[in-house]
Amino acid sequence: MDVGGEFLYPKSQQDLLSATELNPTPTTVPPPMAAMAGNIGERHVLVFLGLPLVGKRTIALRLKRYLRFFHGAKCRGFDISALDGGSNLMSPLDANTHSSEFFNKLRKFLDCSDTEFHQGEDGKTTGGGVGSSPRQNRTSVNGIDPMDKNAKNVDSGRVAIVFSSNAMSSFYENWSGSSKERRRWILAQLATISNSSKSKTRIKTIFIEVTLTKKYLEREILSQKLERDVREGRLEPNSTREAGQEWREKVQEYKKLYVTLQDDGSEDDLSYMKLINYGERVLTNRMRAYLPQRIVQFLTATHPTKHTIYLCRHGQSEYNTTGRLGGNSPLTEQGWVFAEILSRFAAQHVCKLKEFHSGQGDGDIEEQVGAGGWMERGADDEEGPSVAARLWTSSLFRTIQTAALIPHPVIRGPDGSAWESMSPRVYRNIDEIFAGDCEGLTPEEVKVSHPQASNLRKMDKIGYRYPRGESYFDIISRLEPCIQEMESYTEPLLIVSHQAILRCIFAYLTGVDREKAPGMETQIQQNVVYQIDLDASSEDHITGVANNLPAFVTVHDFRKEEVEETMLARTCRQLQSLDPQP
Ligand code: F6P
Repeated sequence: MDVGGEFLYPKSQQDLLSATELNPTPTTVPPPMAAMAGNIGERHVLVFLGLPLVGKRTIALRLKRYLRFFHGAKCRGFDISALDGGSNLMSPLDANTHSSEFFNKLRKFLDCSDTEFHQGEDGKTTGGGVGSSPRQNRTSVNGIDPMDKNAKNVDSGRVAIVFSSNAMSSFYENWSGSSKERRRWILAQLATISNSSKSKTRIKTIFIEVTLTKKYLEREILSQKLERDVREGRLEPNSTREAGQEWREKVQEYKKLYVTLQDDGSEDDLSYMKLINYGERVLTNRMRAYLPQRIVQFLTATHPTKHTIYLCRHGQSEYNTTGRLGGNSPLTEQGWVFAEILSRFAAQHVCKLKEFHSGQGDGDIEEQVGAGGWMERGADDEEGPSVAARLWTSSLFRTIQTAALIPHPVIRGPDGSAWESMSPRVYRNIDEIFAGDCEGLTPEEVKVSHPQASNLRKMDKIGYRYPRGESYFDIISRLEPCIQEMESYTEPLLIVSHQAILRCIFAYLTGVDREKAPGMETQIQQNVVYQIDLDASSEDHITGVANNLPAFVTVHDFRKEEVEETMLARTCRQLQSLDPQP
């Protein structure tokens, strides 16, 4: 799989690609699996535009995470405001002092070779998987190095995402694209790379403009910013009101100078996307081709408002007691104990308004309900107001049973509409990895009956496809539609699923590379609920390290409680059976 750091095919397929007596001219680079498809050899530059305080940075970084995880694209974020050290640069005189430095960084990224891309800061190759380059071990076929990616013209593409984490300071930078002239300038600069590019690949530039027209969205993003400033010591807790007012005024100033993407025909030749209140209204112009369409789909779904995802594995199943893979066995008694614990947790925690969502229901309630948001208020009770929440299970008995005891309170919004909270949605896409011929076997039995499978999987866990079954790459592809839907939600969502599936979702949400997801063997435990609070600052806390939980993850560990409850239930039953019948 690793050709100069490039992922072209699963490593476990490597031995199928060598010449043999029966197959003297083999396929040397097979067609990609779905998760490796698309954007071959292309360069995209995505430039985020819009007023300050609309959440551009959050969305830019989230898009980067998505393109890397689901499409294997090589993505890098380029923050314009990082250039001037974050100082206030609202003067045209200072403008573009950093443009050439910025451009050079961008050029280097877009134009470097794949091997260079994988060179870490310390010069070590990163992310290329294990094993030596097959190029070293292979003989040529018909005089052509069969693994030469240039001969095959295979390259999985590059995406540079340009954004500003402090739009106020970078208004006059050309790279901010804050006027028609600046956008033309960006195109002209990037054309010079296209013309001189080593790869001779045209760079496609896409502008993404974010506009907010809903007051509650503006307020939420501003309040997230102020909260972050207080948390990080940039603002005194008692100065938030004045700071908020100041920011509102600055945005108004910016608005006077900013020129939106024009629909008078003068910018119709550009590829762009306008997000109005995020997915609420989306306008696209010349967004053709594979990757641009994936970008449109993702950005139509995602938003920077606060929301929480809960992940948990099903309770213990009968197959779990013997370590059998896959299958569709029901819960054990211990599994049902967890189902009870989960139902209590869902009612008391998932469906309750939390500190994290303190902005909920803050004015403009009709606007929020109209937007289909999570902000509907439920009936108040002593534990606080209930909120509309969502529940997903896979189509397998063990997850359906685990969620079966969760109550479904009907929440009434202020407009009188009803919402059945936590009504389960069954998704086949979140069914456990299908082990094909190895379904129902224990790992020991797999070693005996399919020794090759066992070894190849150990060598290449993400790419290895069980005979007549699936690989992790396969499940990553089938997870994509669910992730798009998950991104679009604002209500809390509880996902009851399986080990391999949850490793992938957890890795994606916490910014861990997809190559590391299958190896996260200790991170997703049974009888534990992982709470992931997403907001505009979550991207800052992403560690990218599988073992380090980011600050926005809370672990609710019921392992002890579950064992105690099971023991108690067992003892009660034993005592009952000793009782003489009346
Ligand atoms: O053992 C439980 C289980 O969910 C199996 O059904 C599945 O095959 C396995 O875990 C996935 O984990 P891994 O990819 O580590 O084998």
